[in-house]
Amino acid sequence: MSGVNKNIVILISGSGSNMAAIVETARTQRWQTRFGARVAAVISNKAAAQGLVWAKAQGIATAALDHTAYASREDFDAALMSGIDRHEPGLVVLAGFMRILTPGFVRHYEGRLVNIHPSLLPAFTGLKTHQRAIDMGCRFAGATVHRVTSELDHGEILDQAVVPVMPGDTAETLAARVLTQEHLIYPRAIEALLQKG
Ligand code: GRF
Repeated sequence: MSGVNKNIVILISGSGSNMAAIVETARTQRWQTRFGARVAAVISNKAAAQGLVWAKAQGIATAALDHTAYASREDFDAALMSGIDRHEPGLVVLAGFMRILTPGFVRHYEGRLVNIHPSLLPAFTGLKTHQRAIDMGCRFAGATVHRVTSELDHGEILDQAVVPVMPGDTAETLAARVLTQEHLIYPRAIEALLQKG
């Protein structure tokens, strides 16, 4: 986290349940009082993202930037960066943000960019993690909070949670079990970063 600036900007694409868990924890654990940290904005690449409605209702600044309106990934990322930077973030949190980011974007936020991935990294980078874990016969699955580097789903692991894979699990039942753990480890990992200062 950079110096005194503890503004958190969260990027989402969908339901935003991890974002909501972070916002709730910020409130119940008094991040503002303890660390001077607050969720300054929630930004989505999809205007219809449910999470935006929820964030707005909490009084958080929201914005939607439709990636399909930009000619290239670089153009989209440049617009996204200016949308993020107006909130002077100390931490940029990817929470179900379903866009691959350009190396320029990752470099710009180096040291203050984190992600949650629904697998026990380094296993199962990429998509369809739960189905792949079931197909491989894994007995355990989970989620990982990690720093973001230009290599997809790599970067230092900050926190992890493990859940069992149960007989008869589908990708959906396993995803739901993993998601409940995501809601615990993502706020916990962010709080640990805030504590480090
Ligand atoms: C989570 O499982 C996250 O790990 C994955 O996408 C899902 C987002 O869920 N990358 P939500 O939008 O936080 O509810």
